[in-house]
Amino acid sequence: KRNLNTEIIGQEIIYYKEIESTNDTAKRLAQSGVDEGTVVIAEEQKRGKGRLGREFCSPLGGIWLSCILRPDIKPTLATRATYIASLAIVKTINKLSAVDAKIKWPNDILIGDKKVSGILTEMGAELDRVDYLVVGMGINLNFSLDNFDESLHNKVTTIYHETGKKVSRVEFVQALLEEIERIYYKLNNFEEILEEWKAYSYTLGRIVKIDSKREEIIGEAIDIAEDGALLVKVDDKVRKFYSGEVSLCHQ
Ligand code: BTN
Repeated sequence: KRNLNTEIIGQEIIYYKEIESTNDTAKRLAQSGVDEGTVVIAEEQKRGKGRLGREFCSPLGGIWLSCILRPDIKPTLATRATYIASLAIVKTINKLSAVDAKIKWPNDILIGDKKVSGILTEMGAELDRVDYLVVGMGINLNFSLDNFDESLHNKVTTIYHETGKKVSRVEFVQALLEEIERIYYKLNNFEEILEEWKAYSYTLGRIVKIDSKREEIIGEAIDIAEDGALLVKVDDKVRKFYSGEVSLCHQ
């Protein structure tokens, strides 16, 4: 890992063979004041956390890591971290394995229509500033579909399942952290990040179904707003949706 060509991200890497959740450990470290760029990585998670309180299957062979960021931004802009992570993951996957992965807004990476990676960003904030972001990334790399319940086989996949080839985990992590740093430097130039992100979007241009607490809406996903919201054309009106309040199905 010492070949890592970064100035911030991964300057400190804390490695576990086994852990409950890298996000939980990274949050504790962030609260105790460790430097920005610190990465917590584990070979295996016993209680990987997914979004919406779900459990995230994290067996041996995958990449399970959390990166601590301390950007000087307002909490409302924290979703930018998810854009950075999704772009970095999709670029790394496509570079190191012969697949054409795409980003499903807001935070899943798909190969074809199946999920290969997920992101869980957690935040600590003080007053109106971000104190830390823990960006948790899980990538189904070198293991087979047998690790998943059969009912999920049409929903999730792994890079190994798709290509029949294993990718060096060290090489993957190195490329990923370098990519994260490159994009992180553009944090205050979100337009530029979005431009790149859109080229990998699975969602834009598609008809989507939005499930929020109150309603179920069907419309066309047309763009991303400056604040990271998804813009959906419903009948003849454009509406904004935020990742926290909706779940998205593609039709
Ligand atoms: C999701 O798709 O619902 C988000 C999954 C995020 C999983 C990663 S794996 C590393 C980090 N530690 C966790 O406990 N979760 C994230």
